[in-house]
Amino acid sequence: KRSVVIGCGSYLPERILTNAELAAKVDTSDEWIVQRTGIRERHIAAEGEFTSHLAIKAAQAALDNAGIEAQDIDLIVLATSTPDLTFPATAVQVQAALGITQGFAFDLQAVCSGFVYALATADNFLRCGSAKRALVIGAETFSRILDWNDRSTCVLFGDGAGAVVLEAQENWGTSADRGVLTTHLRSDGRHKSKLYVDGGPSSTQTVGYLRMEGREVFKHAVSMITGVIVDAFEASGTSANDINWFVPHQANKRIIDASAQKLHLAPEKVVLTVDRHGNTSAASIPLALCTAVADGRIKRGDLVLLEAMGGGFTWGAALVRW
Ligand code: ACO
Repeated sequence: KRSVVIGCGSYLPERILTNAELAAKVDTSDEWIVQRTGIRERHIAAEGEFTSHLAIKAAQAALDNAGIEAQDIDLIVLATSTPDLTFPATAVQVQAALGITQGFAFDLQAVCSGFVYALATADNFLRCGSAKRALVIGAETFSRILDWNDRSTCVLFGDGAGAVVLEAQENWGTSADRGVLTTHLRSDGRHKSKLYVDGGPSSTQTVGYLRMEGREVFKHAVSMITGVIVDAFEASGTSANDINWFVPHQANKRIIDASAQKLHLAPEKVVLTVDRHGNTSAASIPLALCTAVADGRIKRGDLVLLEAMGGGFTWGAALVRW
């Protein structure tokens, strides 16, 4: 069995926050933000618009794109670090909103690596026969955990959601066949203090704010990302030359450029949305995937390389024949 992507969809809140608007609130400039990160604008959820609302819209769009009904889904894995509530999981709220009463749904928390973790998790459930069709969702409202007075973090993130529908298909045989070819996940909890939220139900009974040593994160990002991608190449017998599209987690254009360069991936194969979305954490990869599918770049049969790295640290890579 193999898990094949049969549809994708995404949703961005209407409100766009530009660098110029941010520069009016904190001591920063469009020039500084663009030069250091490549970000020009990001979307921000409206008051009363929660992670589940973004996730439901992305999931519905993915179902429509796949041409299936919500009732055909028997697994939802939703990656988020900004759930509506401590519990129940945002995934079960999405399940209920879509009218799904079968199968199972749960949240997964691996910060910016969440979508790659969720894809790997759903892929394993599908290949072992525990489910037939999965919604894999990344949805975040990072605007709610930002310290809007801290210029070193508030300029980096945005809100949004993206989803893919994965279907278990039989009769996989040749390397040209579609599906998730391989997934590789890593974590190293020794790096906690470099990127974390300083609140939580058990420790402070507050939501807390995102705290980051940006330079430290940057220092580790490229080697971790390229290392796990090399593992994915080796496991699948592929190389950079075989890749049609590189769809990285959209944290920072400089990290993406440096990773692509180290792997000898041509710049024209890199899908970039960080300029318009900012870093949407677990949502960034499915948002970028949907952008490149919608504009006709990613086509059926293309080999797509996904990677992400984030708080924990967590990191991972996946190869998908689209
Ligand atoms: N506007 C203007 N100046 C700023 C801003 C800002 N928004 N933020 C920080 N500065 C200042 C700092 O105060 C510092 O000033 P000083 O020299 O007077 O002390 C100066 O700019 C340089 O600060 P650094 O933090 O050293 O800047 P750096 O070049 O490292 O860029 C950045 C900061 C963009 C955060 C970078 O380190 C980075 O991209 N790190 C990766 C972080 C990341 O992407 N995290 C996302 C989550 S993890 C993930 O998804 C991979």
